[in-house]
Amino acid sequence: MSEIITIANQKGGVGKTTTAVNLSASLAVAEKRVLLIDADPQANATTHFGFHRNDYEYNIYHALTGIKKLSDVILNTAITGLDIVPSNIGLVGIEKEFYDKEVSSRELVLKKQIKTVQNQYDYIIIDSPPALGLITINALGASNSVIIPIQCEYFALEGLAQLLNTIKLIKKTINPKLNIKGFLPTMYSSANNLSKQVYSDLMQHFKNKLFAINNSENEEDRFIYIPRNVKLAESPSFGKPVIMYDVKSLGSVAYQNLAGAILGSKVG
Ligand SMILES: Nc1ncnc2c1ncn2[C@@H]1O[C@H](COP(=O)(O)OP(=O)(O)OP(=O)(O)O)[C@@H](O)[C@H]1O
Ligand SMILES: [Mg+2]
Repeated sequence: MSEIITIANQKGGVGKTTTAVNLSASLAVAEKRVLLIDADPQANATTHFGFHRNDYEYNIYHALTGIKKLSDVILNTAITGLDIVPSNIGLVGIEKEFYDKEVSSRELVLKKQIKTVQNQYDYIIIDSPPALGLITINALGASNSVIIPIQCEYFALEGLAQLLNTIKLIKKTINPKLNIKGFLPTMYSSANNLSKQVYSDLMQHFKNKLFAINNSENEEDRFIYIPRNVKLAESPSFGKPVIMYDVKSLGSVAYQNLAGAILGSKVG
């Protein structure tokens, strides 16, 4: 069975797409079969792989509306074992279409679609938009777990209570098995005191939900954070995940460590 993980945080620009893309690529390089679903109308994960609007006719929108099967909109990437369901700005229209459906079915449309391809993958990673609307609810409704990137900047934890409440509500209603896989501090800068503050706040409140490096002997460096790293910011413009752009960069190593932590904790 595959494990389905949504990357979510309704705050914009916190590193969701960077995490979805680079975690997916790192898992694929570790020889797992991975499907990355771009569920954001901004389509940043799609363009991160170098796909442009004219490269594909159908996208996640067509699968969610039933015009196409999910398997018909999957694209292969340049990385062996890694496929992607692309997105497009047209996906903004889906919220309205969902609202016209019955309450009982509109929150589980993505889950039903994923079921049709699930056995072909070890991991399905969903990149979600910066909102707690029906797209994100569908993503969380379809997932075993959620990874929450937290940007190590001022206001980092603002809005977190709302996200945690949404997750609680989804557990109570459409997806009792949903769990928080972990919080991921992103864009950490050791020169920045705010970064240290956010990191220590996370350590204080959510230590048991931080990812840890497998077999690390050093308690201090055990927990995984993603450093602010220029290679991570540059790689999308080359249409590549960082592991294909600069495998030894600190950003690449951090996402490989995250993949390692997830591989170590895989259940089922
Ligand atoms: N660790 C990092 N180091 C340097 N730049 C980063 C890092 N993580 C993300 N970025 C850059 O910060 C910007 C925002 O990141 P990203 O697109 O991953 O955030 P997001 O949460 O997906 O945003 P949105 O909410 O708009 O979908 C991007 O330009 C990205 O390249
Ligand atoms: Mg994004």
